[in-house]
Amino acid sequence: MLAVENLDVVYEDVILVLKSVTLEIPSGEIVALLGANGAGKTTVLRAITGLLDIHRGSITRGRVTLDGMRIDHLDAPGTVAAGIGQVMEGRRILAELTVEENLRIGAHTAARDAVGAGLERVYGLFPVLAQRRTQVAGYLSGGEQQMLAIGRALMAQPRYLLLDEPSLGLAPRMVQQIKELIVEINEQGTAVLLVEQNAAMALSVARHGYVLETGKIVMDKPAEELRADDDIREFYLGLADEGAVSFRDIKHYKRRKRWLS
Ligand SMILES: Nc1ncnc2c1ncn2[C@@H]1O[C@H](COP(=O)(O)OP(=O)(O)OP(=O)(O)O)[C@@H](O)[C@H]1O
Ligand SMILES: [Mg+2]
Repeated sequence: MLAVENLDVVYEDVILVLKSVTLEIPSGEIVALLGANGAGKTTVLRAITGLLDIHRGSITRGRVTLDGMRIDHLDAPGTVAAGIGQVMEGRRILAELTVEENLRIGAHTAARDAVGAGLERVYGLFPVLAQRRTQVAGYLSGGEQQMLAIGRALMAQPRYLLLDEPSLGLAPRMVQQIKELIVEINEQGTAVLLVEQNAAMALSVARHGYVLETGKIVMDKPAEELRADDDIREFYLGLADEGAVSFRDIKHYKRRKRWLS
């Protein structure tokens, strides 16, 4: 179990962006973390993966644990070694290197003899990457680059994979493909924390979901219940009227709905 407990995070000692955030990713499961722009989703991932300090952020209260052991003191390579892989927002592949070179970089913490097995797994999951292994990564399509970024994270054989908005900017067909791949990766035994604004996609694969609003967890429910929740449906599943999607959070949306009726 990977757990975040009562976490407060500040940036540059002043701005409190996470307020007592608690969430759990049980071993082997898919968990969704939903929220609007600026809610703090990426900050949660940075707190888990030891990347807060390079963004001048820090944990001021609470802790992050892996199987009960604190990991919030670890730096980024330390969290990878502990079994946590992540795909950052915006993919961040190395455009001038080939597909296979990108993948090998992902394996730099793995034992040398694990690299072959890692490549085999990744090429099995993403045949298109196998076809393009000697091509320069910058020439891949957006969806293929997302696959490469996920593949690179898998090369270190993580037990937990954190994905920051993997569907962002992709065409519906590619989103569907990424979704199927997430399910397959999970079936191979990797737990997934799926950060998404595409709630429909995330809740269709997750077992449990959390909704983050301006740094606070405001919903913590089985994905099935979130899918059935009217406010989630209207606000995050894009079923709301045009005007509503510009509101920052569900609370405002509900208030406005009451006011209009
Ligand atoms: N390095 C930083 N310094 C100061 N404030 C920051 C920093 N990084 C993020 N923030 C602020 O913290 C809040 C949460 O940001 P975060 O990136 O975690 O949100 P998010 O939910 O991932 O948003 P998005 O959907 O746009 O990616 C925002 O108000 C953002 O402006
Ligand atoms: Mg983000």
